[in-house]
Amino acid sequence: MSEARVWDRLAGRYDTVVRLFDSSYGRVRERLERDLPSGGRMLEIAAGTGQFTADLASRAEHLVTTDISPEMVARLRVRVEEAGLQGVECAVMSAYELDGPDGSFDGVFCANALHVMDAPEQALSEFRRVLKPEGTLVAPTFLHGVDGFRRGLSRTLSLVSPFVAHTRFDLTSLQQTISAAGFEVLSSEQLPGLFPLGYVVARPLRLPEER
Ligand SMILES: C[S@@+](CC[C@H](N)C(=O)[O-])C[C@H]1O[C@@H](n2cnc3c(N)ncnc32)[C@H](O)[C@@H]1O
Repeated sequence: MSEARVWDRLAGRYDTVVRLFDSSYGRVRERLERDLPSGGRMLEIAAGTGQFTADLASRAEHLVTTDISPEMVARLRVRVEEAGLQGVECAVMSAYELDGPDGSFDGVFCANALHVMDAPEQALSEFRRVLKPEGTLVAPTFLHGVDGFRRGLSRTLSLVSPFVAHTRFDLTSLQQTISAAGFEVLSSEQLPGLFPLGYVVARPLRLPEER
C-alpha cells in the first residue's frame, strides 16, 4: 500500500488518536514563537489534519500547508476554512518532491513525520532545496529509539498499525540525519513523553561553492 493510502485510512480517526500526545504538542507550540521566523513564506510538510496550522498561519505572511494524503488534506482544508485562516494554501504534496522553486521559503516546519517516512533523508534534501539560505527548519520528531523499552513498545505497536514508525530515531541519530542532509543544527532538545520528542531547529549549511 502506498504511503498516502496508509494515511488516508487513518485520517478520519487522526484527531482522536493525536489527543494522546497533547502535552508534547503543547510543548512544541510554546517553542514555535521563539524559533520560527515571523512574516515571510512558510511551508508546512505532513500537516495531517492541521494540528499546528493555525499557529504557523499566525506567524507567516503566506503559508503553504501540505500532506501526502488527500484525505488528511481534505480535513485540513475544512479546519483552515472553519478557523477563517488568511493567507493559507492547502495542497496534496509529497515531502520527496516539493512543488516549489529553490530558495523560495523562509521557514519549513515538519512535525511528527520524519520518523514515519520511508525516506526521511530524501525529504530533508527537498526541505533544504526550497529553503532560502538564511531560512529555518523546525522538525519536532517522535523518538522511538531512545531506549530498549521505547524500541520494544514501538515494534509491538507496529505489528497492529503501519503508522507507528519507519525509523526509530534517538536525538543523536535524528540530529545526524538532519546534518547529513546539509543542515547546521542550531539547537536540539529532547522533550518528555511516552515517546519523547526530538525538537530540532536547523538552517541550510552553506556549501563552499555557495559562499
Ligand atoms: C503522525 S502524522 C503528523 C501530522 C501532524 N504534523 C501532527 O503533528 O500531528 C504524519 C503525517 O505525515 C504524512 N506523511 C507521511 N509520509 C509523507 C510523505 N512522504 N510526504 C508528505 N507527508 C507524509 C501523513 O499523511 C501524516 O499526515
